[in-house]
Amino acid sequence: MKRMVILFGSPHENGYTKKLTDLLIENLKTKFSVAYFNAYKRNIHPCVDCSVCKGTSQCAFTDILDLTADLAGCDVIVIASPIYNLSFPAPLKALFDRFQLYYNLHEKNEKWRNINKKETVVLLTSGRQANSYLDVINKQLNCILPYLNANITFEVIWDNTDNVTQMGESVVNEVKKIASLL
Ligand SMILES: Cc1cc2nc3c(=O)[nH]c(=O)nc-3n(C[C@H](O)[C@H](O)[C@H](O)COP(=O)(O)O)c2cc1C
Repeated sequence: MKRMVILFGSPHENGYTKKLTDLLIENLKTKFSVAYFNAYKRNIHPCVDCSVCKGTSQCAFTDILDLTADLAGCDVIVIASPIYNLSFPAPLKALFDRFQLYYNLHEKNEKWRNINKKETVVLLTSGRQANSYLDVINKQLNCILPYLNANITFEVIWDNTDNVTQMGESVVNEVKKIASLL
């Protein structure tokens, strides 16, 4: 069975981002074992640039060991998040900074460079119309995903949630299409 890790970044358990995530899961054709990581439910220690991972290939903090193990071996990463000030909410950003571990693994460890390739699905919501949001988000994700041997495969944004509180047909169709292609 293929393995999926969902990195969920909204504080709302039944908000717009959760609705997008649920739609994807409901429509998956392939069977996945799913590891769901809610960044708001974990007190993720911020990266302190202590350089321990540079020397030991391990993080000094042990709070997300379960996730790092799941991420290393998964086939699909789903990043589901609202846009906060053009970026990710702080708990998810803290998590992404901790991915410095993967940067150092990639630099130092040849075995790591050969880990399995991963697809990445990015599901976003924003209160206003998206405009340049994807550009900023993608630049950030492109700083971290390659070190997990991952790249953005599919991306959807449900924007303008301040005004449009029902998911539009085009977003529904995009998510269903992604689910069918995974
Ligand atoms: C602190 C904060 C910052 C936000 N920044 C933005 C922003 O920069 N652009 C935008 O369009 N919406 C912004 N929003 C709105 C959220 O992205 C939007 O309400 C989103 O749909 C919430 O999703 P959720 O229901 O899954 O939490 C912000 C909301 C909060 C609370």
